[in-house]
Amino acid sequence: MASSLAYFLFSFLLFIPASYGKTSFRPDALVIPVSKDASTLQYLTTINQRTPLVPVKLVVDLGGQFLWVDCEQNYVSSSYRPARCRSAQCSLARANGCGDCFSAPRPGCNNNTCGVLPDNTVTRTATGGELAEDVVSVQSTDGSNPGRVVSVSKFLFSCAPTFLLEGLASSAMGMAGLGRTKIAFPSQFASAFSFHRKFATCLSSSTTANGVVFFGDGPYRLLPNIDASQSLIYTPLYINPVSTASAYTQGEPSAEYFIRVKSIRINEKAISLNKSLLSIDSEGVGGTKISTVNPYTVMETSIYKAFTEAFISAAAAMNITRVAAVAPFNVCFSSKNVYSTRVGPSVPSIDLVLQNESVYWRIFGANSIVYVSDDVLCLGFVDGGANPRTSIVIGGHQLEDNLLQFDLATSRLGFSSSLLFRQTTCANFNFTSNP
Ligand SMILES: *[C@@H]1O[C@H](CO)[C@@H](O)[C@H](O)[C@H]1NC(C)=O
Ligand SMILES: *[C@@H]1O[C@H](CO)[C@@H](O)[C@H](O)[C@H]1NC(C)=O
Ligand SMILES: *[C@@H]1O[C@H](CO)[C@@H](O)[C@H](O)[C@H]1NC(C)=O
Ligand SMILES: *[C@@H]1O[C@H](CO)[C@@H](O)[C@H](O)[C@H]1NC(C)=O
Ligand SMILES: *[C@@H]1O[C@H](CO)[C@@H](O)[C@H](O)[C@H]1NC(C)=O
Repeated sequence: MASSLAYFLFSFLLFIPASYGKTSFRPDALVIPVSKDASTLQYLTTINQRTPLVPVKLVVDLGGQFLWVDCEQNYVSSSYRPARCRSAQCSLARANGCGDCFSAPRPGCNNNTCGVLPDNTVTRTATGGELAEDVVSVQSTDGSNPGRVVSVSKFLFSCAPTFLLEGLASSAMGMAGLGRTKIAFPSQFASAFSFHRKFATCLSSSTTANGVVFFGDGPYRLLPNIDASQSLIYTPLYINPVSTASAYTQGEPSAEYFIRVKSIRINEKAISLNKSLLSIDSEGVGGTKISTVNPYTVMETSIYKAFTEAFISAAAAMNITRVAAVAPFNVCFSSKNVYSTRVGPSVPSIDLVLQNESVYWRIFGANSIVYVSDDVLCLGFVDGGANPRTSIVIGGHQLEDNLLQFDLATSRLGFSSSLLFRQTTCANFNFTSNP
């Protein structure tokens, strides 16, 4: 009895991997490279799509609702399928309408299809687009290197007209939405490969070395063999009940990632702020979100004013002198008396204080300061005006060389603060494929 059971288990173990390996390899995580465009400061990635596969360059939009690409130019694919009205795909995308197209059929123009609203979040322009599916192929990873290429045969996305590309980096053909919807990249990949609804961004500060986005759980290893997922601090993610998209249907929540900043400290001293701006009201106004389409953090005017005044006086106490502003910044300093440290120039530290006083996201010089010349450095934060939709938008410069993990299932953000402390950077993922 015991021996036949052992035999049964043994053959079972042998049988499963063999057949599994042949038919379908299931990755634990995926990886895509992310570059920084020097002229627009947008973050770009390239995925392969269509049959035959072609590389498609996309602007990474952390809070974007889905993938949208220009189908008006050069979209050739034998595996393109429009989503038919009232199909499961349409309901997954919350696309209720049903449309026809009155010109020659082509990808993006078919009858009896449902439509969504592709959104250029850089220029804040949205338009109608056909929902469709096609093959998408990306590299899997073991957390250390890229592994074999895997495909999702029916990846949902939206077609868009060419004009929607305006304002995006040249050569970009659309935007890659990593937001909270069921058809954004994180959820589609997680459901295609049955892995955790988690993903992590690690943006490089260099325009010549790639950063990385991981889909799935860690490890997220950066050279020299540092698992950046081991140094995360966690804070809840919040859902803004009112969509922040350029166009939307009523009742739709925002696809963006909001956190709760309760106060801000400069050199560990709290600044005085109008606290009601820091929470999201019933109209969806206020609060703090994280964005990859804003190159620098944007603050509502009264917050910006209190923040910059506190920073200037803390800098003065360190003998750092103010000089004339250089646009788009309002606050710049002489680099004299500013020393270099592992985490960038030695300037006052900035803490975004989260759920309680002991949980905070500390921003050091590498993420607060922008060098505009050898002699002048500026505070890399900008004034968002008196009545912005969202009071604080944490932008790209503040995210670079920080690992951020978004866990959709538990609605939680993990953040590492500067990886420079750990003697690595987001450009240190080993993109050399494992043989
Ligand atoms: C959609 O149907 C209309 C009316 O039947 C037709 O004129 C049009 O050519 C069709 N469009 C496409 C893209 O097939
Ligand atoms: C604080 O902000 C809220 C929301 O914008 C505003 O209604 C209120 O007047 C502000 N309070 C002060 C003291 O400025
Ligand atoms: C600032 O400069 C003054 C005068 O030169 C000096 O006494 C003081 O120690 C300096 N403070 C710092 C923090 O370097
Ligand atoms: C602060 O929040 C963290 C995580 O939510 C918790 O573990 C810790 O006990 C809290 N600390 C205080 C002082 O409330
Ligand atoms: C990067 O990965 C490749 C493939 O596993 C390996 O051969 C190489 O040594 C790694 N590079 C470094 C710097 O560790």
